[in-house]
Amino acid sequence: MKQTINGEWLLGLVLTAATIQTAAADLTTTISPTTNWGTWEGFGVSLAWWAKAFGTRSDLADIFFSTKSTTYNGQSVPGIGLTIARYNAGASSTNSINGTTMVVSPDMIASRQVDSYWLDWASSSPSSSSWSWSVDANQRNMLSMAKARGATTFELFSNSPTWWMCLNHNPSGSNDGSSDNLQSWNYDQHAVYLATIAEYAASNWGVSFQSVEAFNEPVSDWWNGQTGTQEGCHFDVSTQATVIGNLRTELNNRGLSSTLIAASDENTYDLAVSTWNSLGSTATSNVGRINVHGYQYTGGRRDTLYSLASGAGKRLWNSEYGESDATGQSLVTNLLLDFRWLHPTAWVYWQAIDGGGWGLIDGDNDNLSLGAVSQKYFALAQFARHIRPGMRILDGGSNYTVAAYDSSAQKLVVVAANWGAAQYLNFDLSSFSKPGVSGALVPRWITQVGSGSQYASYSDTYMNGTKFWSYFPTGAVQTFEVSNVTL
Ligand SMILES: *[C@@H]1O[C@H](CO)[C@@H](O)[C@H](O)[C@H]1NC(C)=O
Ligand SMILES: *[C@@H]1O[C@H](CO)[C@@H](O)[C@H](O)[C@H]1NC(C)=O
Ligand SMILES: *[C@@H]1O[C@H](CO)[C@@H](O)[C@H](O)[C@H]1NC(C)=O
Ligand SMILES: *[C@@H]1O[C@H](CO)[C@@H](O)[C@H](O)[C@H]1NC(C)=O
Repeated sequence: MKQTINGEWLLGLVLTAATIQTAAADLTTTISPTTNWGTWEGFGVSLAWWAKAFGTRSDLADIFFSTKSTTYNGQSVPGIGLTIARYNAGASSTNSINGTTMVVSPDMIASRQVDSYWLDWASSSPSSSSWSWSVDANQRNMLSMAKARGATTFELFSNSPTWWMCLNHNPSGSNDGSSDNLQSWNYDQHAVYLATIAEYAASNWGVSFQSVEAFNEPVSDWWNGQTGTQEGCHFDVSTQATVIGNLRTELNNRGLSSTLIAASDENTYDLAVSTWNSLGSTATSNVGRINVHGYQYTGGRRDTLYSLASGAGKRLWNSEYGESDATGQSLVTNLLLDFRWLHPTAWVYWQAIDGGGWGLIDGDNDNLSLGAVSQKYFALAQFARHIRPGMRILDGGSNYTVAAYDSSAQKLVVVAANWGAAQYLNFDLSSFSKPGVSGALVPRWITQVGSGSQYASYSDTYMNGTKFWSYFPTGAVQTFEVSNVTL
């Protein structure tokens, strides 16, 4: 019998379960010290809409970008400590240019219109009156609060070129959604826009973007278009290749030759594979990192995309993930599959605050109401508070486990989930040259999807020889930290 909390109680529980024929067999997963799936760059979030809505709220910045506890809605919330922020370069403005104004989708959601810094085509000089650097103050404020709390890694991304660069002047997308909307004579202007913001941010905001992404789900045609609810733009792969080349040149021209180009933020793993295979060697040589979105959930060939990325010597991020499952079960399932098959070096949630189950905190970015912290928040905290930048990601040995190693602290982090009947999960560290110290405490944290605990911590689990184990109720996500480990 396993002793975790109370040997007698657990013995009784397991016998009862066996009697009624519902006991699952114990599962053992073996953690591999020889794997190296990359040095972790961090967990993050995209700013955009929620930061435009709530960008002055320092309590929210504390919750998302620090690891201290913050009182929110009368509840003490452990900060999730995100270290990556993606800043959205907007595409909208209300000015008229010689009688021409932005065309707004009839279904546009106002909170999803993000202000463009470049107001008209008269001048590309950022000090001219064609540019306004005072717009979008809230999103910028959240960016700077993120940095002040320890965020280290920033990406500049675009959902659509600024409206006046678009064929129909509608930054939600082209008339049919499936054809390009960026005017061919503005291919370079889109690159100028993004490179100018990157240069301005380095000089004026104290933010050095590690990467710039010019597209958002560019080959998709089903969610963007003239009646879209948000900014969006289709780009054929050949147009992507041209814009990537222009962006490289414009960044280099501004002294930003070490700023990476990320591409192409396709909607699914499989679309990322097909786009990458069609971009051509000139464009792929200019891409510093492959970004993919995780909207294929449990489907798609994560492993194929990883093979392409590693074969090309490119880093790989899951740069956008989201869904409406507020319990956290979908997030945990898909994040664990990403670790095991996609091997990203960063993982970025979409909107920290949103409705319909999408937010880590429930809220409405239009009427500015805020609700409860979602169970999904605590599920993500099980990973983000423990798997920290600089750690080496290891094979946890199963689709339900990930492990990460901190070489300077000689600490092994293990996160695992159990969706089946309540059972023990055993973690076998026998392949490590030093698998911790037998009898030593293994602190653990637990969040139970659907109900129950929210990042509760316990000091009741110990190394036993080269193993430890823990009882997992259905829906439990647990994090363990093993000390004195060497690979
Ligand atoms: C507006 O039109 C005038 C006259 O054609 C032109 O001189 C000016 O450059 C235009 N301004 C912009 C911003 O296009
Ligand atoms: C804001 O919208 C939400 C739905 O998204 C609704 O439940 C709430 O009552 C609204 N609050 C206000 C203050 O209008
Ligand atoms: C683990 O996940 C992969 C990728 O989704 C899948 O092909 C495989 O069947 C899963 N293995 C198990 C045991 O569920
Ligand atoms: C390991 O587990 C066994 C079986 O539960 C127990 O008898 C033994 O005391 C444990 N050893 C340590 C070092 O905890």
